[in-house]
Amino acid sequence: MSDITKYEHNVGKRKRIRLRNLVTWFNTTQEDGEPSFEAPPGPMIEKKYIVKHGFDGVEIHGANGYLIEQFMKDQVNDRKDQYGGTLENRCRFALEIVEAVAKEIGSQRVGIRLSPFTDFMESSDSNPEALGLYMANALNKYNILYLHVIGPRWSESESPQSLLPMRKAFKATFVASGGYDRNGGNEAVAEDEADLVAFGRLFLANPDLPRRFELDAGWNRYDRSTFYTQDPVVGYTDYPFLDVHA
Ligand SMILES: Cc1cc2nc3c(=O)[nH]c(=O)nc-3n(C[C@H](O)[C@H](O)[C@H](O)COP(=O)(O)O)c2cc1C
Repeated sequence: MSDITKYEHNVGKRKRIRLRNLVTWFNTTQEDGEPSFEAPPGPMIEKKYIVKHGFDGVEIHGANGYLIEQFMKDQVNDRKDQYGGTLENRCRFALEIVEAVAKEIGSQRVGIRLSPFTDFMESSDSNPEALGLYMANALNKYNILYLHVIGPRWSESESPQSLLPMRKAFKATFVASGGYDRNGGNEAVAEDEADLVAFGRLFLANPDLPRRFELDAGWNRYDRSTFYTQDPVVGYTDYPFLDVHA
């Protein structure tokens, strides 16, 4: 087991690899034709690598404007071949990746993260509801473990859009994220809007977030000015733990 997975297991987390920058040398505006990798995805998704390093599975990163999402969103994909144009064509690349990873490591070790409603890196779509619903339905075919979706509320603005149609369409575990706190997360699960809720910024600002939730002890506010900084400590590992003796 590698040091990183040992650490993650020790702190009680399950470990996944995110396939984000796997194929960054390929972009959606290149000449049409069969997407071909200049280098193979390589050992990162070989079963022996996953098992050897103690990973529980792979979360395919199909969100936030990275490569896979660039194929899915109609405002950035201008291909004219079987990977562009229709919804089916734009989602083909993502689904082929799901199929390939599931085949390699087993479908029950695979999850995927999507963000149809976000527009990071100019990746937006003219009909995010239809895109999300199409993917939720299409993913059922691959028997994967979970679908993790960043909802429309991530930016803290009110939105009439909802994850519910995706939640209802997807047959396995549905993880919602984006703009949840302790109460919001509990409500979403109680209302059957999701099986699980994931937290981003609150986790960043609270290294002991599960403990704080358990105790209903409140949490540190995150500091936006230190998001995405180059400093390895400030904004990443300098938020205080709960002082249970205070
Ligand atoms: C500093 C920072 C770094 C992030 N890095 C990533 C990333 O690498 N990949 C990703 O998909 N999302 C990333 N996110 C987004 C979060 O995973 C999450 O989707 C987002 O913060 C919304 O959830 P929240 O409302 O619980 O914070 C990042 C967010 C922050 C604040």
